[in-house]
Amino acid sequence: MMPMLPVAELHMHIEGSLEAELVVALARRNGIDLPTYDATELKNRYRFTDLQSFLDIYYANLAVMKTEQDFYDLGTAYLTRAAASGVRHAEMFFDLQTHTQNGVAQEAVFGGLTAAIDEARASSGITAELILCFLRHLGGEAATETMRDALPFRDRFIGVGLDSSELGYPPSLFAEAFGIAGSEGLHRVAHAGEEAGPEYVWEALDLLGVERIDHGNRATEDPALVARLRDEQIPLTVCPLSNIALKTAPPELADHLLPAMLAEGLLVSINSDDPAYFGGYVDDNFAAITAGLDLSPAQVGVLAENSFTSSFLPERQKESLR
Ligand code: HPA
Ligand code: ZN
Repeated sequence: MMPMLPVAELHMHIEGSLEAELVVALARRNGIDLPTYDATELKNRYRFTDLQSFLDIYYANLAVMKTEQDFYDLGTAYLTRAAASGVRHAEMFFDLQTHTQNGVAQEAVFGGLTAAIDEARASSGITAELILCFLRHLGGEAATETMRDALPFRDRFIGVGLDSSELGYPPSLFAEAFGIAGSEGLHRVAHAGEEAGPEYVWEALDLLGVERIDHGNRATEDPALVARLRDEQIPLTVCPLSNIALKTAPPELADHLLPAMLAEGLLVSINSDDPAYFGGYVDDNFAAITAGLDLSPAQVGVLAENSFTSSFLPERQKESLR
């Protein structure tokens, strides 16, 4: 763990912080079958060729999550680790449909995560919010149904997002769910341009009304889109170690698009995505880009500053945390 500048983390899936050791502990606690109960052996299987090869393992591991206590333990582990490494505020994605499909009640998911957030705030001062992500691979109707079913918990989350398998699941499929979210006053974000091209980013902006793009790397292929993102200062939540692990960027960090994105004047921040799977937490991502890219201390400062600017915190609170 590296001490670093204060930051907000805006692109992390709380389920992606489920460390192999906790997978094994929860499997034992809940009597769930695993291919191995050796955490090291489990981790040795984390070799990915693309997004889907990661998602297959990520969803398989989530079968161990059963009770409110499990969600509390997961949230507490991340928030403790994050607070200790300089994260002042986290906007955490959660994949509600994965858990309801596994037979877990919404109350257990919301109850455990909310309790972890409340306790972390009391013990370390870190603030955190939840963003409910619709799973692309389950389709648009399931997203709409999930949105409606989650409305009794409307005050427990600040926004909706869109994640899981990108290719073949364009944002347009989810317009109805995002329309409901918008009319409820929820914030809207979407993964776009991680594996699919710039057209998915255009759709997320124009058809879903999103305020932030998660990843967005491939937006750089379209100059008109780059101009829009720059002119409107639409945040891109970039995840360098994730990009390398999932081969959505060249294998060497030195070849990452991040410096070009900064040079274009894009509002980019640094995030961990799925820290238990991609080689580290947000401080590890900062350490990696500092070592692997020719960034000035001022540029690193801009990235930290951008994380607060891009957050959904009230303006007054952004100022006090920077
Ligand atoms: N990309 C898309 N969906 C996801 C990811 C990701 O990195 N992690 C969890 N769901
Ligand atoms: Zn992600």
